[in-house]
Amino acid sequence: MNIPDIIIAVDGYSSTGKSTFAKLIATEFAFLYLDSGAMYRGVTLAGLEAGVIADGKIDEAALLSVMQPLDLHFCQEDGATRLYLGARCIEKEIRGWEVSQYVSPVSAIAAVRSWVDDKLHAFAAGGRVIMDGRDIGTTVFPNAELKIFMTADEQVRARRRYDELAAKGEKTTLEEVLANLKDRDYRDSHRETSPLRQAADAYVLDNTHMTLHEEVVWMLGLLQGKFGLLESPGLKC
Ligand code: DC
Repeated sequence: MNIPDIIIAVDGYSSTGKSTFAKLIATEFAFLYLDSGAMYRGVTLAGLEAGVIADGKIDEAALLSVMQPLDLHFCQEDGATRLYLGARCIEKEIRGWEVSQYVSPVSAIAAVRSWVDDKLHAFAAGGRVIMDGRDIGTTVFPNAELKIFMTADEQVRARRRYDELAAKGEKTTLEEVLANLKDRDYRDSHRETSPLRQAADAYVLDNTHMTLHEEVVWMLGLLQGKFGLLESPGLKC
């Protein structure tokens, strides 16, 4: 299918499968996939390693000094997009427990958001990008040609996340996972700077009762409808 070089913004609640969905769409339609959450995770990791995030506290001024010179960037390898800090691939470390504990408050710092937004604009400058996050369609790319807002029942999201963690051998309970999910949703939607919101022109994808395959079929229908790719020449007047 011939899809133009557009920007697709995918926002939504935690554990709605945004990155899985966005990666698949990127592969299917030859888009560059960019995970904006990874950037906040990268800043958090650098802060932890520099010791300016420790013992439950974030030294904001020191974190900003650590962040400014950081060479955080994405590399495309074997069809996957990975985050690098200089020459070091940090994709695994940024998904760890410690980073996950601090990333939400780090992402609420306005100066961190503005630094990340500048980087995201530079990375996407070539176009033909699908980016997922919390504020892509509202703040980072308010003029994105296509905006998707993903949601699902929170019990279903918690169960999916719990199964994922259990498969990795992590010891937790469904109740803990649900509480953490509610907490992150609350923080993301109530922070002062760029809270998680559904853009007025976003298409809602509620995948509570959908398989990944059904989500891709849904997207295909959306793309065909939006870009007129279903119109046969015979129907045009
Ligand atoms: O999608 P994720 O869990 O990797 O995101 C990590 C954190 O970053 C999460 O607390 C939400 C925040 N985030 C954000 O505030 N804005 C974005 N565009 C992407 C992520």
